[in-house]
Amino acid sequence: MRMVDLIEKKRDGHELSNDEIAYIIENYVNKSIPDYQMSSLLMAIYFQGMNHQESAALTNAMLNSGDVIDLSVVKGIKVDKHSTGGVGDKTTLVLGPLVASCGAKVAKLSGRGLGHTGGTLDKLESIEGLSINLSIEDFINQVNDIGIAVAGQTANLTPADKLLYALRDVTATVPSIPLIASSIMSKKLASGSDVIVLDVKIGDGAFMKTIEDARELSKIMVQIGSSFDKKVVAFITDMSSPLGFAVGNKLEVLEAINTLQGKGPADLTELCVEIGSYMVYSGGIATTLEKAKELVLEKLHSGEALAKLYDFIKHQGGILGDLSQFIDVKEIIEVKAESSGYVEHINALAIGVAAMKLGAGRETKEDVIDPNVGIVLEKKIGDQVKSGEVLAVVYNNKQNIKEILSEVQEAFTISKEHVAKQSIIFEIITE
Ligand code: URA
Repeated sequence: MRMVDLIEKKRDGHELSNDEIAYIIENYVNKSIPDYQMSSLLMAIYFQGMNHQESAALTNAMLNSGDVIDLSVVKGIKVDKHSTGGVGDKTTLVLGPLVASCGAKVAKLSGRGLGHTGGTLDKLESIEGLSINLSIEDFINQVNDIGIAVAGQTANLTPADKLLYALRDVTATVPSIPLIASSIMSKKLASGSDVIVLDVKIGDGAFMKTIEDARELSKIMVQIGSSFDKKVVAFITDMSSPLGFAVGNKLEVLEAINTLQGKGPADLTELCVEIGSYMVYSGGIATTLEKAKELVLEKLHSGEALAKLYDFIKHQGGILGDLSQFIDVKEIIEVKAESSGYVEHINALAIGVAAMKLGAGRETKEDVIDPNVGIVLEKKIGDQVKSGEVLAVVYNNKQNIKEILSEVQEAFTISKEHVAKQSIIFEIITE
């Protein structure tokens, strides 16, 4: 086989066979295929696309390029969830304990945040003493003992994805639906769970900008899952404005605790209850989706889900201490509305970037984050606001943040017209 022939084949819109895709990935990882040829193939895929068979073959080749975690020693059905990333997305901190308290097994490998999106590991590590560096053995033991563990990736999972993602990043080929689908699914399949719920976000703060693209991506990922005999469900959800009120690591931990006390923001609560119900149902714990939802709501309101969060934090070495002292910043600044009306839009990207500039996120991988800082929205879409009322509160440790404060204020669009609140969930794609 010659790479140049395969590039030509894809360039001219023909289908690559399973063997050809396996050849490409194997030889790219072992460096026999140079970056310039791989870049050319990626661009051909970007323009010509890939059909279902090719996307599944690419996923399989990437999955088998490294280690695959064997969770068969964990008793019960293992459930996982993946979000395509967003601003204020602390779903794992709520959902993980919630479904674990229902009896599902949550063995979750998470990532760090980069740019305007936050990462679960950074939120967890904002808790004093909490370690995300679990050995595979400790990780599995903890899931067997308490039903949940969340760790950083230590095993050599999907090295092909790491290499390809870095190359896509510098060749303008990230936004290709088959490439995104196989990238996400190879990592999820390598993590070993039986049930995978995907949260595909759309809007300013997300990868997917339109419902059509999100639907196509979701369908491909669900199909890839079924070709690997995994139950995959995709939720298409709104990321045009931040999820919940809080954006920033410790602030989001506090919001997760509030949500598990039944006092969380409506959008975050709705998302966690709906996704959680699918995880519990698909995990075989309840016989119908309705019964799964009843169980999820019972665990949320009885305090058992919150107790599971505390147990999980304790098992991983975390100490929450006195929550009134949890956030340590030098100043808290209110950002006020300059006109009256209804909140029509809160630009998630702008809020995410402002939080990153405060130090809550990283511009480059090497940046060190400040876990205490961030932004708490006081108004959400549809809320009425009067001129001079507080729109958001900024938790700051930096000097001179005038520009950031303006960016937060400009992220809000206030309309004179009444704005209806809408569900955060647009569609659910199942097999
Ligand atoms: N997230 C991933 O893991 N991979 C992509 O290609 C895009 C988003």
